[in-house]
Amino acid sequence: MALSSELADHIDALFLDPDPSAFYILDLAVHVSAQKTGLGVILVNHAEARAKAIGATSLSLDVSVANPAVGFYQHIGFQIKCQSNVPALRAYGQLDHLHMTRMIDQ
Ligand SMILES: CC(C)(COP(=O)(O)OP(=O)(O)OC[C@H]1O[C@@H](n2cnc3c(N)ncnc32)[C@H](O)[C@@H]1OP(=O)(O)O)[C@@H](O)C(=O)NCCC(=O)NCCS
Repeated sequence: MALSSELADHIDALFLDPDPSAFYILDLAVHVSAQKTGLGVILVNHAEARAKAIGATSLSLDVSVANPAVGFYQHIGFQIKCQSNVPALRAYGQLDHLHMTRMIDQ
């Protein structure tokens, strides 16, 4: 099976369908030269303010199990809700993902 076909068949299984009441963070990144200076927290807090304004009750995201960002998210209060299990993709470097959430204080 070609790589693109294998990925297409399994990629959805890496990501949980987000809770409709959650505000989903798709891509969070700080330039490497500016990391560990507090910008990541500012961006997440900005997302939380936007989420609160539209009535969302939590923030959610998916992150690869091997991404050091998992430690960042845990450090700022995100919890791991579940982990995908897609062995067919590991050979292509697509590791399982963690679904993480943080409740929003109303
Ligand atoms: C994850 C990322 C956005 C964090 O941004 P950042 O600006 O470096 O984080 P901050 O400076 O706001 O860090 C806030 C706190 O988290 C801690 N922290 C940062 N990265 C951490 C890590 N990988 N593990 C544990 N703690 C971490 C900081 O030490 C800081 O702690 P303090 O409040 O006690 O001082 C950034 O590392 C990044 O862009 N990574 C590459 C892209 C990526 O993988 N994004 C995630 C996609 S899902």
